Amino acid sequence: MNNRTFTIIKPDSVENGNVGKIIAHLEGEGFRIVAGRMTRLSTDQARAFYAVHSKRPFYNDLVAYMTSGPVWVMSLERDNAVPHLRKTMGATNPAEADQGTVRALYGESIERNAIHGSDSDENAAIENAFFFAASELI
Ligand code: CMP
Repeated sequence: MNNRTFTIIKPDSVENGNVGKIIAHLEGEGFRIVAGRMTRLSTDQARAFYAVHSKRPFYNDLVAYMTSGPVWVMSLERDNAVPHLRKTMGATNPAEADQGTVRALYGESIERNAIHGSDSDENAAIENAFFFAASELI
């Protein structure tokens, strides 16, 4: 029953030198790394990736933040991948995230919250395809 999710290790995590620790945390949770790389989002990419939030008041700040520095994008596999990653990440706001979650450990604020994770299987497929060619997702 293995399935896939998608994550972005955000600019704050790269800046703070937490990429390796977060990847180790995710592997410790049983995720297999299907594909991954460092990249820097263009404004167009960030706007498209977060299009679902385009009407929200934080959208422009979110796009500016996500393009402010390099990020690590990654496709992950595990049983119950989407809900398990969301549990492993913790609440969007690190101040509300359960102890021991990635956002509680490494997040600084609701914007600088260490990591993004897909919210549904459907979006996981869309988000993986946004960054990776089908030939990379093996
Ligand atoms: P993420 O899981 O990447 O999805 C959308 C992001 O918007 C979210 O994490 C937060 O980092 C960011 N964000 C900024 N402000 C808010 C807010 N007020 N409510 C929800 N998300 C926010």
